[in-house]
Amino acid sequence: MTTTNTSGAAAADPTAPYPAETLAQLRADAEQVIARYPQARSALLPLLHLVQSVDGYISGRGIELCAELLDLTTAEVSGVATFYTQYKRHPNGDYTVGVCTNTLCAVMGGDQIWESVSDHLGIGHDETTADGRITLERIECNAACDYAPVVMANWEFFDNQTPESTTQLVDDLRAGRPVAPTRGAGRVCDFRQVSRVLAGFPDGRADEGAGAGPASLVGLRLAAERGWSAPGSQEARTAGTDAEPGSDTERATDADTAGRGADTSARAAGAGGLQPGRQSSTDSPANDPDETPAGGEGKA
Ligand code: FES
Repeated sequence: MTTTNTSGAAAADPTAPYPAETLAQLRADAEQVIARYPQARSALLPLLHLVQSVDGYISGRGIELCAELLDLTTAEVSGVATFYTQYKRHPNGDYTVGVCTNTLCAVMGGDQIWESVSDHLGIGHDETTADGRITLERIECNAACDYAPVVMANWEFFDNQTPESTTQLVDDLRAGRPVAPTRGAGRVCDFRQVSRVLAGFPDGRADEGAGAGPASLVGLRLAAERGWSAPGSQEARTAGTDAEPGSDTERATDADTAGRGADTSARAAGAGGLQPGRQSSTDSPANDPDETPAGGEGKA
């Protein structure tokens, strides 16, 4: 299925009621989504993505529509929308650029990338450039630590990044140049397009590009070379913890312990705190809504 954007001119003013044509399309799309679930309320998460595919964020009118369609209160819908960081309570940029500053990425250069790209764009966490192109975020671990430091653009992976490569990335995105992630789809789609896919309307590109890269497969290769296999019983697991002196298991344990020690030292050395005016992901106003649904937080 081809990804389409139902927003048209409607997204220009998400504080006004939906135009009739947009509303009709939203209702038709929502009906498809709701039909996939035994209970209608289970469709709330994809419907919120559908709202973002039109409005570019979780608007007050989108909350009201979800509440009406799913027989929920606007408070219940807001409660979900404010819980997950993928739902944006302010108009989002065309591209969410997330810099992983969790432990491993941070010590591998993520903190430097964050400082560099934040200075380059002149914005901090959960802020958007004046041209509406880039929303910048500090993000938590994306389970791509084997490619640290990792940057995401609309949740596509950019592996082994540097301050220079990330600056080039945001410049390309702002200029409208096609950008290909390291793994996954052949190009990065904009926020509304990605939101429509997340709502359950595939764009047919899910199988593009590489999935697991070489770094993710090292363990599998070593296991194959050495004849290792997963223990099949509790006895085998217990036996595996009693490593012989000088064995692979003992060496792996020593290396792991040494690595963690180095990691702790590096973090201690780099613990300089945030720059004034820069928010961490835990004290950001990301979930403060711009709008309250017209009917308050009661039943829509
Ligand atoms: S710490 Fe950055 S991807 Fe895991």
